[in-house]
Amino acid sequence: MIIPDRIMTFINSLDDGLSPFLECLAKEAQETEVPIIRRDMQSLLKVLITMKQPHRILEIGTAVGFSAILMAEYAPGDSTITTIEQYEKRIPLAKENFRRAGYQNRIELLEGDAAVILPGLADSYDFIFMDAAKGQYPALLDDCLRLLAPGGVLVSDNVLQDGDLIESHYIVERRNRTIYKRMRSYLYTLKHHPELETAILPVGDGVTVSVKKR
Ligand SMILES: C[S@@+](CC[C@H](N)C(=O)[O-])C[C@H]1O[C@@H](n2cnc3c(N)ncnc32)[C@H](O)[C@@H]1O
Repeated sequence: MIIPDRIMTFINSLDDGLSPFLECLAKEAQETEVPIIRRDMQSLLKVLITMKQPHRILEIGTAVGFSAILMAEYAPGDSTITTIEQYEKRIPLAKENFRRAGYQNRIELLEGDAAVILPGLADSYDFIFMDAAKGQYPALLDDCLRLLAPGGVLVSDNVLQDGDLIESHYIVERRNRTIYKRMRSYLYTLKHHPELETAILPVGDGVTVSVKKR
């Protein structure tokens, strides 16, 4: 947790909640230990989607479809979402959730590794939500930028590793050092990229919001 517990509890206590379907899905995800975006990240995503009103959304990291359905609820009714997932066990669950939520015609799930799928995509997207394996973000960035429309928004979740990212390299456990290095380099690139304007926010496990300059 990056933000002190008491502040987080206060912020979450004011949250206006989720639709009954998403409330149920969030509970199921918690019981089955499926990772989904945290409550404060849910709130930020609702605001960003309401503000941007994107017609074409790309998500990398579907899990069981929670965030894709949340975005579908807040995006325009004629918008479409393409979401990518590689974990075979989660794919049928996500598809079933899209059907149960009534979004099977608006949300398309592409099955496989985003590193393999993204180079084959040619459409342009108004909003990209990156929520996959953190160590892969730098490798996926070029394709995300190619696919992002001018004025489009790229949101990357879990970028501060529960605060570990600010620690010295020597304090970080050896097994986490590759992700640590890659994520620091990813944040530097986002902040210094000539095509992007980026804010790093201590929301959830750390999130970046980048806009592709026109
Ligand atoms: C944090 S979960 C996504 C949560 C989801 N966005 C939500 O909030 O409902 C990350 C998901 O990304 C998937 N993933 C990780 N790396 C991936 C990759 N390279 N290609 C496709 N899916 C990937 C994992 O299998 C996992 O289900």
